Amino acid sequence: MKEEEEVPFGCGRGASVLRQWGNCVNNIAACSRLPVASVRVEVGCEKVLAAREAAAPRRPQGDGYNDVLHEMQIDILTLFPEICRAPLSESMMKRAQEGGVLQLRVHNIRDWATDKHRVADDAPVGGGQGMVMKPEPIFAAVESLRREGSKVLLMTPQGRRFSQAAAAELAREEHLVIICGHYEGIDHRVTEQLVDAEVSIGDYVLTNGAIAAVVVVDAVVRLLPGVLGHEQSAADDTFSRGLLEAPQYTRPAEFRGWKVPDILLSGNHAEIAAWRKEQALQRTRANRPDLLADDQP
Ligand code: ADE
Repeated sequence: MKEEEEVPFGCGRGASVLRQWGNCVNNIAACSRLPVASVRVEVGCEKVLAAREAAAPRRPQGDGYNDVLHEMQIDILTLFPEICRAPLSESMMKRAQEGGVLQLRVHNIRDWATDKHRVADDAPVGGGQGMVMKPEPIFAAVESLRREGSKVLLMTPQGRRFSQAAAAELAREEHLVIICGHYEGIDHRVTEQLVDAEVSIGDYVLTNGAIAAVVVVDAVVRLLPGVLGHEQSAADDTFSRGLLEAPQYTRPAEFRGWKVPDILLSGNHAEIAAWRKEQALQRTRANRPDLLADDQP
């Protein structure tokens, strides 16, 4: 959110975010590092939402959680560092690094290749199209970066599908090493011997795992204490409570004849909250009925 952006109607949280950034230690309680509770959905908006709220993560108390700012370290290994650098050096990701919440390093895998031409790929054994990423530089890179407790991820469409819950889990790690695949794939000995988890960001194939790594890093880092700068922001997210978010409006109250809903201008916070809950449920039914299914994972 940019500083000049407007305050959302209906007592929103947006515009104060940047002003509060410098006060991030006080906002550590904002953290949503807890797993999102999954609740079986019954009929009726109130019932559904009450059940979800009851099961929503609570802030830990009295465990020092509110006083300690953890720095997370992330090392990204890619053949295309520039793909990661630009998106992860702007806005909140930039502030997370400047504020000491995140130490991010983006490495070129070729830097661990030992031959003259820094070769990082080769033809697939057994034939087939394209090139496969070689194991030697990847092993050398990971072995030089990882330490006790590091978690090594491989970005690949063959991985487990990434989600908000997975982001919250990864946000509890101290050190992530993220290997980005490219070409036709990566030597399977990397997957078998080095990698703790294969991660896919969805059922489609990108040209480059570095793009997927940016998505994962962004989703994880915004959950770290202090990054969002307001204690409600992450907890209110779409998916955090298993529903999509209600629509938001800002000024002007009327634009080309289209009006902001009266309820948001009423100043009645209880009614605004009820309206938002109902809208969230309606939107979820329309766009993502799978989130309301009994058998969702
Ligand atoms: N690399 C290519 N496509 C990908 C995907 N969908 N998720 C993660 N890494 C990928």
